[in-house]
Amino acid sequence: MKPHSLLFRAAPCAFALMAAIAQAQSALPAPRLEKRGAATQLIVDGKPYLVLAGETDNTASSDIEYMDTVWPKVVKVNLNTVLVGVSWDWVEPVEGKYDFTLVDGLLAGARKSNLRLILLWFGSWKNGLSSFAPEWVKADQQRFPRVRIKNGKSVEVLTTLSEANLQADTRAYTAFMAHLREVDGAQHTVIMIQLENEVGLIGDSRDRSAAAEAAFAGPVPAELVGYLQENHTSLWPDLRSLWEAAGAKTAGTWQEVFGASTATDEIFMAWNYARYMDHLARAGKAELPLPVFSNTWLVQPEDQKPGDYPSGCPEPLVIDVWKAGAPSIDINAPDVHLRNFKDWAERFHRPNNPLFVPESYGDLGGAANAVFGIGEHAAIGYSPFGVNNPEKWGEIRPGGDAPAPTALENLPLARAYGVLAQMTPLITEAQAKGTIAAAWLNTQVPRRDIALGNYIVKVDLQRNRRNPVPTLGYALVVSVGPDEYFVTGRDVQVTFTPNTPGPEIAGLARVETGGFSNGQWIPKRRVNGDDVVLDYDQAAAAAKNQSGSGLIFGADGPTIQRVRLYRYN
Ligand code: DGJ
Repeated sequence: MKPHSLLFRAAPCAFALMAAIAQAQSALPAPRLEKRGAATQLIVDGKPYLVLAGETDNTASSDIEYMDTVWPKVVKVNLNTVLVGVSWDWVEPVEGKYDFTLVDGLLAGARKSNLRLILLWFGSWKNGLSSFAPEWVKADQQRFPRVRIKNGKSVEVLTTLSEANLQADTRAYTAFMAHLREVDGAQHTVIMIQLENEVGLIGDSRDRSAAAEAAFAGPVPAELVGYLQENHTSLWPDLRSLWEAAGAKTAGTWQEVFGASTATDEIFMAWNYARYMDHLARAGKAELPLPVFSNTWLVQPEDQKPGDYPSGCPEPLVIDVWKAGAPSIDINAPDVHLRNFKDWAERFHRPNNPLFVPESYGDLGGAANAVFGIGEHAAIGYSPFGVNNPEKWGEIRPGGDAPAPTALENLPLARAYGVLAQMTPLITEAQAKGTIAAAWLNTQVPRRDIALGNYIVKVDLQRNRRNPVPTLGYALVVSVGPDEYFVTGRDVQVTFTPNTPGPEIAGLARVETGGFSNGQWIPKRRVNGDDVVLDYDQAAAAAKNQSGSGLIFGADGPTIQRVRLYRYN
C-alpha cells in the first residue's frame, strides 16, 4: 500500500476518534469543587486534580508572542497549570465592543503545551487600584465614581458603592465567561477563575465618598448579623472579640455593632467588596459554573493599620464577613509573600475554606510550601509568582539565598512538582481519607513528630557529612496500610515509633525507591545498608526504643520511598 493511501485511510479514523473524544469530554461537567471525605477537592474531567501551578507577571499574558517563549519553560518546571491575567481593559477597550483575541491566544498556547489555565479577572480592582479598568471607565469619574479618602481627595479606585461600576464590570465579566463557555465549555482548559486581584482600599481604612458615608452611618445588614449569630463559636477569634466587646448586638450601625476603631472600617469595607464580588461571581457562574476564588494581600509586618494594607481584603479578621457576603466565592485564598507559610496555611485552611495558594515563592522554600500545603492542609494546589522567569527562582543554599545556575528541570520546585504529579492519585485519595501529613522544617523547627496510622512518624532535618547544616527540609507521608507508608521528602530523615499497643520498636522490613506511572507504583531499587542506617550504636538506639535505621532523603530529592515496618521488643 502506498504511504499516502494509508494516510487517507487513517485520517477518517483519526477524525472519528477526535470527535468521539470531544463528545466524551463535553459530556463531563465543568471543573468543580467537591467535598470528598476530609477534603474539598477540585474535580477536573471526573478526577481530583492537584493544581501544580505558577503565575506569570501581571502583563505577560497581554503579549501572546512573549507567552510563546513562556509555555516551554513552564513545561520544564513541571507545571500542569498556569495562572494568567485577563484585564477588563484588554477585552473591552471600547464600551460594549469585546475582543477576546488574547483569551483565545492564551487558550491555544496552553492547549498546545497540554497545560490548564486559571484566568485572573483584573476588572474593577488589581492590588486595590483600578488601573486595569478600561480608559472609558477610568476617564469618566462622573459615571463611574471613585473612593474618596480622608483628605477629601479621590484615588484611582472605583467605589464598591456604585451601581454603575458594578453593572459595567458585571457586563464585561459575564461576556468573558460566556466567551469561555463557547470556546472552552467542552475542553476545560480553564479550571478556575480568580475574581479581581487583591482587592481592598489602600490609603485609608474606609471609603469616605458620600455613598459610603451614608452606608457606614446606616445599619449593619441583617444577613451579616445573622451569619455572626449562626456561626458565633466558630468565628475568627479577633472578629468574635470585637463583636462581643461591643455587646454582641444583633442590630445597630457598624460602630454600634463592632465598636469605634479602624477594624470596624475594615469590616465595613470587607462587606462591600464581598457583596460586589458576589454579584460578579454569581453572574459569571450563570454563564459557566467554574470555581471562583479571591486572593488576599496579607498584612505585612511593617503595616500598622487597614489602609497600609488593602482595607477589606479577605484577611483572617474579616474572612467570616466574606463568607457571609460572598457565598458564590468558593475560596478565599492567601498570597503568601511571607516566609512563615505554615502559619498562613493554617489560618486560611478552615472548614468552609479549602486551601489554595495563588501566589508565593518558587525557590526551595516554595517547594516545601507546595508539599506542606498539599500534604498537611489538603490544599487544592500551589502557585509561585513570576513563573515566566523561573530561572530567577534559584536555590537557597546554606549561607545565602544567591540563585545557583541550574537547569530549569532541576529547580527544587520542578522536582517537587514532578513527584507530586506522579503521586496525585495517591495523595488526593489520602487527602479525602485523612491519611496524609507533611512536615516543613528549618533550623528553628528542625523536627516534627506526626501521629499517622499506627506509628509516630518522626521527621528530622537530615544532617550528614556532605550537607552538615541543611537550612530547610520537607516531607510528605501517606499511610497506606497498618505498617506501610509512602514518603517523599528532601533533606530529612524519617524514623518510626509504634503508637499502638504491642512491641515497642519499629524495624524496617522492606524499603524501596521508585515512582508512580498512571497511579501504579513501580519499584526501582531496594534500599538498605548505608541508605538507611542512622546510628550503629545499637545500645543507645535500643534504649530509646529505636532501631537506629530510618529513611534518608538527601538534597538531590525529593525521591519517593515505600516502607513496610515490623515491630520487635
Ligand atoms: C501581588 C499581586 O497580587 C501580584 O499581581 C503581583 O503584583 C505581586 N504582588 C508582585 O509581587
